[in-house]
Amino acid sequence: MNIINSHSLLNYNTFKIDVNAKLFTTIHTEEDLNKVLNNAKTKNEKKFILGGGSNILLTQNINNLVIHNQIKGIKVIKENDNKINVEIGGGEVWDDIVNWSTTNNLYGIENLSLIPGSMGAAPIQNIGAYGCELKDSFKKLEAIHLETNEKIVFKKSDCHFGYRDSIFKNKLHNQFIITKVQLELMKKRQINIEYNGIKEQVKNKNANSQDIRNIIINLRKNKLPNPTKLGNAGSFFKNPIINLNTLKHLQKIYPDIPFYTTKNIKIPAAWLIEKLNWKGHKEKRCGVYKKHALILVNYNDATGKEINNLSNKIKNSVYKKFNINLEEEVSIL
Ligand code: FAD
Ligand code: EPU
Repeated sequence: MNIINSHSLLNYNTFKIDVNAKLFTTIHTEEDLNKVLNNAKTKNEKKFILGGGSNILLTQNINNLVIHNQIKGIKVIKENDNKINVEIGGGEVWDDIVNWSTTNNLYGIENLSLIPGSMGAAPIQNIGAYGCELKDSFKKLEAIHLETNEKIVFKKSDCHFGYRDSIFKNKLHNQFIITKVQLELMKKRQINIEYNGIKEQVKNKNANSQDIRNIIINLRKNKLPNPTKLGNAGSFFKNPIINLNTLKHLQKIYPDIPFYTTKNIKIPAAWLIEKLNWKGHKEKRCGVYKKHALILVNYNDATGKEINNLSNKIKNSVYKKFNINLEEEVSIL
């Protein structure tokens, strides 16, 4: 176990913000984690768990111990003719898991292809894309309490999954490290192509999970900036959920306002932001991506504070014009 003092996080966050962690360590096994949690130097430090750093905005140095989770492993727990249960280390790269699933002709997570980040972070905000969410294939997870070292198993119902939400963003915020996640994947072909724009791309009526993965990868590459080339953290804000009265009011002024109804009414935050001419807007070193209004980008060594200031300006202008409060999806530290 190697604990480093004052370590730069530049290469550990996709926004490419250069701040330091007071203490930094990488763990590869649960034994490593145990040592860190019981080590005299680090035991009483506040801890922050870092995966791929693709959903955080660092606005200052982290005055804590940063634990970079690299606990790997993919293990089949049980299977029958229809499904297979797989236990995955929290430090696995999420998209490697999707690739493993489609390569093995399994179904359930292919619509979540190319989402950056780690397995352990996926339940935190119940990652979602193209009509699919982690919770649809989630069985249970194992987590260790950062103060008591207690190991707890959370079933799906314990996680309180919602739209970009879970108990780990609320009541249990920063209290646990997720070390293992168990997914249940399907062996029989079942594809979900209802999301706008996918069906049109499916050329083969027997398309399998690998074909869907390829379509999603193409769609995402055309729309989203590659974080290795342009710093960003995906959608900066969540899509707001509004009530029917607000929708009717907005429709009087903007008859073409897009909206989705599933359990509730959601409107695309990108539409609101684009309507106020932020799309493609550039400040000194950061801005709003020219191809997608919901993505803030770091053009050239911007600080987290600059990006946060831009985010606040966007939030204020959306509130002023539409009376809608945008909520950040990205964790601001
Ligand atoms: P980090 O950014 O490292 O951490 C995020 C939060 O989770 C932090 O609070 C951290 O403390 C906590 N955390 C991380 N690992 C653990 C753990 N093992 N135990 C406990 N807490 C932990 N998200 C979507 O839902 N859908 C998308 O389509 C999508 N597209 C994206 C596209 C791009 C280009 C980018 C850059 C991001 C996108 N995201 C998307 C957001 C992001 O990829 C996900 O939120 C991802 O799950 C974050 O994983 P991470 O390992 O990078 O988490
Ligand atoms: N739109 C605009 N301007 C834009 C972009 C989009 O007006 O610049 C409008 C259009 O009406 C479009 C609608 O927004 O039809 C939806 O756009 P898109 O399909 O790109 O999806 P999104 O709502 O912006 C959400 C997720 C993404 C996820 C995609 C695909 C949130 C906050 N974001 O984006 O997740 O990949 O759907 O399912 O829910 C993330 O969470 O980081 C993320 C990228």
